[in-house]
Amino acid sequence: MRIVAEIGSFQAWTHANLQRIESVLQRVLPGPEIAPQRLHQAMRYAVLGGGKRVRPLLAFAAGELAQAESERVAIAAAAVELIHAYSLVHDDLPCMDDDVLRRGRPTCHVEYDEATALLVGDALQSLAFQLLGEYRLAEDMQTQLEMVKLLAAASGSRGMAGGQAIDLDSVGKSLTVPELEFMHIHKTGALIRAAALMGAHCGNGLDEKEFARVDQFAKYVGLAFQVVDDVLDAESSTATLGKTAGKDAKNSKPTYVSAMGAAQARELSRELRNNALAAIEDFGERALRLRQIADFIVLRKF
Ligand code: IPE
Ligand code: IPE
Ligand code: MG
Ligand code: MG
Ligand code: MG
Repeated sequence: MRIVAEIGSFQAWTHANLQRIESVLQRVLPGPEIAPQRLHQAMRYAVLGGGKRVRPLLAFAAGELAQAESERVAIAAAAVELIHAYSLVHDDLPCMDDDVLRRGRPTCHVEYDEATALLVGDALQSLAFQLLGEYRLAEDMQTQLEMVKLLAAASGSRGMAGGQAIDLDSVGKSLTVPELEFMHIHKTGALIRAAALMGAHCGNGLDEKEFARVDQFAKYVGLAFQVVDDVLDAESSTATLGKTAGKDAKNSKPTYVSAMGAAQARELSRELRNNALAAIEDFGERALRLRQIADFIVLRKF
């Protein structure tokens, strides 16, 4: 009975926060009628109307834990999602993974063109940081500056972009598990971790130790997310995923599936989830949403 009630409430919580992030993204993206129209239309195409919005949900959950105002968290969450959307547009380009399907639709460069897709990424990244400069997000300016630094580091050469460089450099190679972990922590884990921490920074409710627990949780969840992505690429279908299944093997990408097989990779994702939950155990009921998101990430089908 209790479990059913919790699942029900998670659905309602998710629904409310998805609406919140959708409406902020709608609002902060330049309108399709504003010049240069084609670029703005392509930016909106890449960001709106699709995606699980896992990173914003993590930001909202961590924000609640830190007793942050949801309006502030929504802007921080939007900044992270804009960076994520940019990373997907570039990830799909012919010079990277060369994918034609994303979120159930043609990829940005297929729907528009390569040059536009490149600029979409550039502009989404700038817009993310513009938001962090434009809106008051944290109680004090020092913390707000920390947030700028945090998102920049998570996106840059020592975060997502660096992980993507390792990914491209690894094509055709077989990586050891520690090497895979290093790649995944950067290309995917860094931004997921940043999402949780950005949300937490919007509030004042966590002391240093509690903040570190959220960080530890997000590190495990971030790695688990990409391990599951590897498994789904190998085991799911294009229709379910909304992106072309089986691309990792086709592109000769080393993944957790190529390194240890799908069953063991799944098992590892469960272990990572358990480690994530252990990190936030002391929060008790206060961390319910974080726990539910960790479960969603490991059990998701797409
Ligand atoms: C896909 O991310 C790329 C990875 C980092 C694994 P998501 O699975 O979060 O993609 P959307 O946002 O739901 O489309
Ligand atoms: C992408 O990893 C990580 C990013 C930073 C975008 P993948 O290349 O595995 O993501 P998908 O499977 O195309 O969504
Ligand atoms: Mg890729
Ligand atoms: Mg890809
Ligand atoms: Mg993938």
